[in-house]
Amino acid sequence: MKNQQVEALLLQALEHELGGIEVYQTAIECAVHPGLKKEWRKYLDETRGHVTALEGACAALGIDPEREDPGRAVVRHVGGALVQAMKLALAAGDRSAAQLVACECVVLAETKDHMDWELIKKCGEHLTGKAATALTDAANKIEDQEDEHLYHSKGWCRELWVESLGLTAVLPPPEEVQKVKTAIGAARAEQAAEKVR
Ligand SMILES: [Fe+2]
Ligand SMILES: [Fe+2]
Repeated sequence: MKNQQVEALLLQALEHELGGIEVYQTAIECAVHPGLKKEWRKYLDETRGHVTALEGACAALGIDPEREDPGRAVVRHVGGALVQAMKLALAAGDRSAAQLVACECVVLAETKDHMDWELIKKCGEHLTGKAATALTDAANKIEDQEDEHLYHSKGWCRELWVESLGLTAVLPPPEEVQKVKTAIGAARAEQAAEKVR
């Protein structure tokens, strides 16, 4: 494995989780539906745990968690842009529109979050010794949470958009009710929502 790129991945993942805290803090301000607000409060808490887990993983691999690199700067920039987008929507004064913007920002953020942890798990499978154990343990603890963050947020985003179009929406989304944690489960949940429209 290319150790330098493993380090780049961990530093990006850490920066993304740090940005994720700010994304959720702002998204919670935008949320109108009480069920969504409650979900995002839980994801915010879990995201704080992911920061701690990545700091632990960096320590186990002898990586300075504060080290800057260009990839990390890009991740920070994108996270800041998502927060700015939500603030722009909030300032416009339409709460429902701001909630939709927040849903989209969360889905964008969680797409990378989900991929980062899949890649971290892969690194764990291909490294050896203490590094392998540290990454595998962290990924095993966190991957279910990232599945939920991504698939459930996509469900909220789709159904709130559908509702805004004046169509029959399923809220909370079936992803939430069925506690979906896989891509195939998410596809089935979306189908279930389509059946009622
Ligand atoms: Fe995360
Ligand atoms: Fe996440």
